[in-house]
Amino acid sequence: MRIGETETAEGEEQGIAPPEQPAGRENNGSERALKNYQSAVASGFYQRDTGGLLGKYDNVRRYWEDQITRYVLHDFVMPLVERKRHSLERIRILDLGSGSGEGYEILTSLKKEGDSLVSREVDVLPPEMLGAYKGVDISPAMVEQGTGIYEHEPKVSFVVGDLSEGLGDIKNDAPYDIYFSSYGSLSHLNDAELARLLEDIHEHSHGQAVLVADLVGRYSYEWQCYWDDPPAGGDTMRTYSMSYLYPPELLDRVEPERFPLRFWTAAEFDEHVRATIGNKGGRVIKNELRDRSILVGRHMNTGEYNRHAQPLRREVNCLHEFNVRTDLEALVFDYTPKPGFDRLNAFFDKFQMAWNAVVYAAIEALERANDPDWLGEPPPTEYPEVVQDAIRTIRGVVRNVRWFRMGDPRANVIEPQLGYILRNLEMDLQQGMGAAHGLLAIYEFSKE
Ligand SMILES: C[S@@+](CC[C@H](N)C(=O)[O-])C[C@H]1O[C@@H](n2cnc3c(N)ncnc32)[C@H](O)[C@@H]1O
Repeated sequence: MRIGETETAEGEEQGIAPPEQPAGRENNGSERALKNYQSAVASGFYQRDTGGLLGKYDNVRRYWEDQITRYVLHDFVMPLVERKRHSLERIRILDLGSGSGEGYEILTSLKKEGDSLVSREVDVLPPEMLGAYKGVDISPAMVEQGTGIYEHEPKVSFVVGDLSEGLGDIKNDAPYDIYFSSYGSLSHLNDAELARLLEDIHEHSHGQAVLVADLVGRYSYEWQCYWDDPPAGGDTMRTYSMSYLYPPELLDRVEPERFPLRFWTAAEFDEHVRATIGNKGGRVIKNELRDRSILVGRHMNTGEYNRHAQPLRREVNCLHEFNVRTDLEALVFDYTPKPGFDRLNAFFDKFQMAWNAVVYAAIEALERANDPDWLGEPPPTEYPEVVQDAIRTIRGVVRNVRWFRMGDPRANVIEPQLGYILRNLEMDLQQGMGAAHGLLAIYEFSKE
């Protein structure tokens, strides 16, 4: 049986029952997370260049998650940079749970949206506008890795620090403009620890700042066993593992570290931030909550917390892989509802139908690749416009691929385009509920 699996009728119906919590909060979350990341770095699974089909930097992270994160950040960072330019000041960034500096990479490669194809791409945050980037992480191995990668970047620095105790010595630094986090870092903190960190940030910031909170979404299909509200006044942390980073042959021999995480719904998190900042006299100026990786979270591949999960991340990774053909039928998704969650079930039903309509359209387009007239016909009008647009686009790609004479146009042109079309679908249909692996929550706030 998989971790957390039960043989009860209830567990059977709902996927997998919640794994047992390690005893109490003497379960020392910080220490277990630390152990997990130390061994991930030591084993090499957490290197920057393990990308493609597996590892931390797989194709979904590179071409979906990082890009969507940049897309959402754009509307907050761009006006901030302009404001700072106006006051002749540069941007200071603090990366919370920085790992080896992935936040630096994300923020310094933001591109201005909507620029014409003719002009050269322009960075939102050009090097001369960056004052400082500091990464703080509990793991000395991560900090060492980051320090090594950026040793030639004088504005980049890292410190070891435990954010469950607030900002600590960082309070002595000059204020930052962006208090950043990426890929679930803040989900390592429980509610009280997060509130303390938010209070410290509020206190530490000057007039106006941006908080980027990257969290794990409670309503992801990957873990329907966690959808229920935590018991009133009880522990809100749930068990998690990064088993997806281990190759199957190693999983037979090694038990991955399990550590507690906070799985947030968007509404819960929003309330938490507004209450914490509001109690300190602060104010949210604008915010955005975004679901990222609805069907392509990493535990879709493991089925560790939901036996009905399909390995869709594996298939989407494959879509983006050079010279590798994907079995498109394996992309067809069959949603298993969870009783008592009507709103979420309705959302996933809709998302499934839109996703599958596009996948079937791609399969049909490939079958009719030699029929350009049919490929040029308008898509079926019974679908909503976003789906029609996706179908029109994939048909257009197949119709126009003839110019690509060398290699494998299906693997290297059509399939990556299908990947981007599915990514657009996610961006158009997401509702910002916490119904995906990642919940990206961005707040611009002011002190009064
Ligand atoms: C999922 S990783 C994300 C790393 C990086 N931000 C990225 O985008 O890849 C979570 C990071 O949070 C760090 N972390 C966990 N608990 C922490 C704590 N209490 N204080 C500081 N960092 C912590 C871990 O060491 C790890 O590097």
